[in-house]
Amino acid sequence: MSQSATALSQLASDFRGSLRGLASTVSLLTTEKGGERFGMVATAVMPVTLQPPALVVGVNCSASIHDAIAKCGWFAVNLLAKQHEVVSRHFTANSRSERFAVGNWADLVVASSPEVRMPVLTDAAAMICCRVREIIPYGTHDLFLSTVEQVTSTPNSEPLLYCNGSFGSFNSPP
Ligand SMILES: Cc1cc2nc3c(=O)[nH]c(=O)nc-3n(C[C@H](O)[C@H](O)[C@H](O)COP(=O)(O)O)c2cc1C
Repeated sequence: MSQSATALSQLASDFRGSLRGLASTVSLLTTEKGGERFGMVATAVMPVTLQPPALVVGVNCSASIHDAIAKCGWFAVNLLAKQHEVVSRHFTANSRSERFAVGNWADLVVASSPEVRMPVLTDAAAMICCRVREIIPYGTHDLFLSTVEQVTSTPNSEPLLYCNGSFGSFNSPP
């Protein structure tokens, strides 16, 4: 039996409310297409397998980075540390062309495919360079199932978390 539009809308609202309790590490997804940089704040990042190293990201089809990732087939997941809250807020508050004005950005040349480059945050907790293998459409979003091609990490970083509409961090016990 199909649900009425009202019931579905209530369910979506309840679901959104329930997600406020889901603490997630904040990432910046980045890519470059035609010499232009694209970037977006994202929490829908999920590791999939270690053999092969793979992850999936969920990107709204209306986001400016969506078509750039779909067309060039590469992107970076920049996992943020707590000092990057200002970078995350800057990304959210500004349009695409202004987003890279804040933060320590460099151009990564992909070792295995030197024709591919993308902006990466040099002091990110981790930078995971990904190659898209499958695009799985679902509702408003596409899931980019991707292999991991290159990784750098900054030791002893404290992750930037987002939960209940606020930013926070997590200190590992000594
Ligand atoms: C904490 C946070 C997490 C987000 N996570 C995602 C995400 O995982 N996927 C997504 O498509 N949008 C996500 N968004 C929304 C996009 O960052 C935002 O809609 C983006 O500005 C849209 O892209 P555009 O302005 O470049 O078109 C998130 C926003 C915030 C503040």
